[in-house]
Amino acid sequence: VGQGLLTPILAESGLARRHDGTLALGEVALSHIADAVGTPTFVYDAAGIRMRYRTLTDALASLPARICYAVKANGNLAVLRLLADLGAGADIVSGGELLRALTAGFPPERIVFSGVGKSDEELLAALAAGIGCINVESISELQRLVALTELHQADAVVGLRINPDVVAGAHPYITTGKGGLKFGVPADQVASCLALLDEAPRLRLGSLAMHLGSQLLDPAPFERGVDRLIDALAQVREAGFAPDTLDLGGGFGVRYRDEKPPTIEEWIAPVRARLAESGCMVQVEPGRYLVANAGVLLTRVLHRKHSGGREIAIVDAGLNDLLRPALYGAWHAIVPVEAPEGAEGPVDVVGPVCESGDFLALERSLPPVRSGQLLAVLGAGAYGFTMSSNYNARARAAEVLVDGGRWAVVRPRERLADLFRGEVRDPFGPEAP
Ligand SMILES: Cc1ncc(COP(=O)(O)O)c(C=O)c1O
Repeated sequence: VGQGLLTPILAESGLARRHDGTLALGEVALSHIADAVGTPTFVYDAAGIRMRYRTLTDALASLPARICYAVKANGNLAVLRLLADLGAGADIVSGGELLRALTAGFPPERIVFSGVGKSDEELLAALAAGIGCINVESISELQRLVALTELHQADAVVGLRINPDVVAGAHPYITTGKGGLKFGVPADQVASCLALLDEAPRLRLGSLAMHLGSQLLDPAPFERGVDRLIDALAQVREAGFAPDTLDLGGGFGVRYRDEKPPTIEEWIAPVRARLAESGCMVQVEPGRYLVANAGVLLTRVLHRKHSGGREIAIVDAGLNDLLRPALYGAWHAIVPVEAPEGAEGPVDVVGPVCESGDFLALERSLPPVRSGQLLAVLGAGAYGFTMSSNYNARARAAEVLVDGGRWAVVRPRERLADLFRGEVRDPFGPEAP
């Protein structure tokens, strides 16, 4: 993908080159943000998130439907607040995400708690908050929830996340709907879960759920998954239960490079009639779809070097800021923020972290890159900041939200002193606390 072919990805990211050649998000020049806030910095586009949310609601308009945004994709409070204000619910996977979602302003009844390993503390926090649904993923977890609700005399709505045993063709690390993986209740254990629920007057089975994986690009396995969910609905109705929601999970893929992800309409059209006939509320849990291409990571080139016949640009964002290339071999478009000049050539764009796997792009065709130059890494709005770490004692990046002509820092860059706050330097000596 040469720079010329990036035009659709730029447009999808809300980016445009101004008459002077510099890159702007909405009406704000990215160089202006970098000068004011420094780099590396994640910049999110409120208009892009709103636009995708609207596309999603339009595609689901003919069904009774609820959108629960997967907080794990981007949990910044400003992003969460924006989606809560649009009417979204939240899909959470930890007590930390529960606190984020509540703090951002999601009404508890619009929160669904997914995840294979919820601790007692997390389950109790969810019960105390009175969230809409706790999706259980194993018999053991259901037993735990029965015990906790009895002990604390609390009622809860539960979802059964079924493992539909469907291969969705996603990267192995983000495939979740296949048999033998840790996710969901296998079909042959649903009856045991129903037997447990029969004896648990404090729990109401409100939903049947699935989630096939992330960055899905093929609607066919999704359709098979929905079929399995509808089969399971017949089974639980036969057993006397009346769940009111079918939760189809998230995973709707996006374009990072030259993928051709189905539109939301293309995901939903093949299953619309079956979903409508089910009589259930349809719930989806998109994360990446809503935010991936509504975010860029701004990074500055620190040094150039030539080694072993390769051109290398060392930038100030590393795998601790954006893990996806190192973890999944993910491809992110990289574009110069100032007007590109000169013939393109292959360059490795690498970070400062002491790991050979610390790269943002290898042998990427880029216009000549010089020290001090600003680059934008596209598609960084999902699983960017949320997967970032302090590895190599690096402070986590700043986050900025752009809305049309306005912009604001929505999380300042971490300070170095934040890195060891709470650590004890001399636990057994004279400085002991
Ligand atoms: C249960 C569940 N729902 C939703 C999502 C969101 O996935 P995505 O960001 O690909 O839409 C995930 C991601 O792993 C998940 O595990």
